[in-house]
Amino acid sequence: MTKNTKILIKNGRVVDADNNLDAVLDILVENSRITQVAKNITNGASEIIDATGKIVLPGLVDMHVHLREPGREDKETVASGSQAAAKGGVTSCLAMPNTQPAIDCVENMRVLKNIIQKTAKVNVFIAASITRNRLGKELTDIAKLKKEGALAITDDGASVDSDELMVRALKIALGQKILAICHSEDKSLAQKGVVNLGYTSTRLGLRGISRESEYQRVARDIALAKKTKAPVHITHVSCRESVELISQAKKKGIKVTCDTCPHYFSLDEDVVLAYDTNMKVNPPLRGKADVASIRQGLKNGVVDAIASDHAPHTENEKDIEFERAEFGSIGLETELAVSITELIHTGLLSWSALVKKLALNPARILGLNKGTLSVGADADIIVVAPDKEWQVEKENFLSKSKNSAFLGRRLKGIVEYTICQGRIVYKNEVS
Ligand code: DOR
Ligand code: ZN
Repeated sequence: MTKNTKILIKNGRVVDADNNLDAVLDILVENSRITQVAKNITNGASEIIDATGKIVLPGLVDMHVHLREPGREDKETVASGSQAAAKGGVTSCLAMPNTQPAIDCVENMRVLKNIIQKTAKVNVFIAASITRNRLGKELTDIAKLKKEGALAITDDGASVDSDELMVRALKIALGQKILAICHSEDKSLAQKGVVNLGYTSTRLGLRGISRESEYQRVARDIALAKKTKAPVHITHVSCRESVELISQAKKKGIKVTCDTCPHYFSLDEDVVLAYDTNMKVNPPLRGKADVASIRQGLKNGVVDAIASDHAPHTENEKDIEFERAEFGSIGLETELAVSITELIHTGLLSWSALVKKLALNPARILGLNKGTLSVGADADIIVVAPDKEWQVEKENFLSKSKNSAFLGRRLKGIVEYTICQGRIVYKNEVS
């Protein structure tokens, strides 16, 4: 990591959706901020990055990551997870509260804030839980958690089943101006399922998770957003009915936003047929029609954001029978390349549209002044080689855990530099 210096990024194709910008330009960074975006800047910088032939983007804002600290440092830590983030081009991430203990009180938030302050390589923001210990029984002190700096509330990993409790949480969230993020899953419908219900569950003889278990809860969460007028963000949308419901809600003016993850727009349930537990995620990989509808939602704007749901697990928790393995795939180091490969190189999205999904929209949803290359903004910038091909290999992950659904895949697009708050926090020295 280099100290705060003047950094000049020269001749890159700068894509900044916030300023409707897509042109070959230079960017000057001074003392953690962007101070100039123009052609042929000649200011004497101490570090010059030649970005000829490269794409220069705002650092990614990933609104769904599991950093596992405190409590499961064997899976990931703030240090290892944020290093993985830097490698993946993610300069800001939102840490989910399903840690041990859960981030459900001011004391636990302070513990995590202290760890972040000491060890984070990129900006790490905190989501606190909606209910105590995420048990869905008793609300946390949302006002206090907000005051302590929580950016959102969520019981991620679980949904708050009680309508009455969720209404109370949303009313407080509205008053406190804190975002509620919904992991929309009706456990009474999903039961002990491990893969998508249908052909795959039948073929494999494994218990299925229906699409209803997701979209009926999406419908409930939308209804509560309408009733309380509180903004609601639905995370990791995986099936076509959810996209349809969110589309209709948006048309009615209900304050709902949503994200999906790279695995839901690039993989379908067929990849689970080999019993590879890295493909076991929650919600599960769905059918081809669902993948098509998620991609359509990304294109037409119904799906606002892409988040990784970076979910590290140890080999002991993954390299076992499918039914016993944990749900989740790591994603911080692959989300940009999967997005470039699947959305840019296929022509589905423009670079500007992709910047919205990966940086600008999540920043706006969270109320962060990020995801932009405006003069005066925090210098969170990445330099990307868009066509460079690489293979996803266990050995190359900086994350402590290696459970990636994309292992062995060839992807296009690699991060050459990640600058966070004006410091170079990652540089690709390998290829
Ligand atoms: O696949 C998942 N893993 N989905 C979740 O909702 C939770 C996450 C985790 O914490 O491992
Ligand atoms: Zn979740």
